[in-house]
Amino acid sequence: MQTPLKNDRLLRALRREPVDTTPVWIMRQAGRYLPEYRATRAKAGSFMALAQNPELACEVTLQPLRRFDLDAAILFSDILTIPDAMGLGLSFAQGEGPQFAHPVRTRADVDKLGVPDMETELRYVMDAVRVIRRELDGSVPLIGFSGSPWTLACYMVEGQGSRDFATLKAMCWNEPTTAHALLGTLARSVAAYLCAQAAAGAQALMVFDTWGGMLGPAAFREFSLRYLEQVVDALKADEHARHLPIILFSKGANSHLAAMADTGCAGLGVDWTIDIGDARVAVNGKVALQGNLDPAVLRASPEIIRREARKVLDSYGKHPGHVFNLGHGVTPEVDPEHVKVLVDEVHAYSRTLHAA
Ligand code: CP3
Repeated sequence: MQTPLKNDRLLRALRREPVDTTPVWIMRQAGRYLPEYRATRAKAGSFMALAQNPELACEVTLQPLRRFDLDAAILFSDILTIPDAMGLGLSFAQGEGPQFAHPVRTRADVDKLGVPDMETELRYVMDAVRVIRRELDGSVPLIGFSGSPWTLACYMVEGQGSRDFATLKAMCWNEPTTAHALLGTLARSVAAYLCAQAAAGAQALMVFDTWGGMLGPAAFREFSLRYLEQVVDALKADEHARHLPIILFSKGANSHLAAMADTGCAGLGVDWTIDIGDARVAVNGKVALQGNLDPAVLRASPEIIRREARKVLDSYGKHPGHVFNLGHGVTPEVDPEHVKVLVDEVHAYSRTLHAA
């Protein structure tokens, strides 16, 4: 039997229930801005060696929780584990981001791809979830995650990061059936991956659609949203995942918030280019919102960080259903002390807001 949660603010906020203080976690909270992360990564040898070692993945997951009063842990892994398990040959060149030895370019390439087996090819991820749950011992919930079908396809077709992922976009125009075949396989893989994380002990699930916002409105619905819907539907039909709140985050997709709220997810991630109060009106209180401080604010002074955090909290207001986060991941040059300032201010200020 698992211990009951000592801090369930995240889950309460995602259910839009009252909380004593607004829960906060930080995207990429385990990462290079922490010296202890850099030390563990050096010990592991490479990013993938770190991610594939459940004990070390657990260690880096817990590092930010030792420093900051965070309300959630997020599995230390990467969205690109799925394409790696599909045989694309993932590597992270030092300082250069991800690369695939075998990008997907043709219908024949797509037809070769299958849904990876979660308890063999991706067992290291499920083992990490199990070890982290054991070590957290009910202190805070553990968020499992995946990339979205669209965002995974961006990297798989381009073979690396890109400004515009024009290779996949060209496939969408020139060979839509190939693009849809790829996205369909990815939707089934993402769903299986998240269901396996739920079975292994994840307590909330987040889907990162980092590059959804690069699409025009009709293309977003056809190539990104449609597959997010398939993933949510599959999770709702799964015996483990059906009980877990799902957070969808399509960066740069502010004009689609209402449509995304209709998928049946519990919450939406929001980037910093929209006022979170306006985002709340756009979803009409139907889902919780997670966000949305500009990550660059963490480069400013503590005083400005506190002021900007209060602005986000005030903009959302007293309504239930806010999970404080950045609008995208914390960047490597940020001073960890600034993250502490932010987390403490969110709790201190929002406590007065919720008590008022
Ligand atoms: O948030 C967390 O603390 C959990 C861990 C996590 C990582 N990647 C670890 C990581 C999560 C949730 C991700 C998601 C991820 N990975 C996304 C979606 C979210 C986003 O940031 O948009 C994307 C697009 C990726 C793909 C990826 N992984 C890229 C582009 C890079 C290189 C760029 C970079 O920031 O270095 C990675 C590597 C990566 N994933 C690192 C970390 C901590 C840095 C690798 C290192 O230690 O050198």
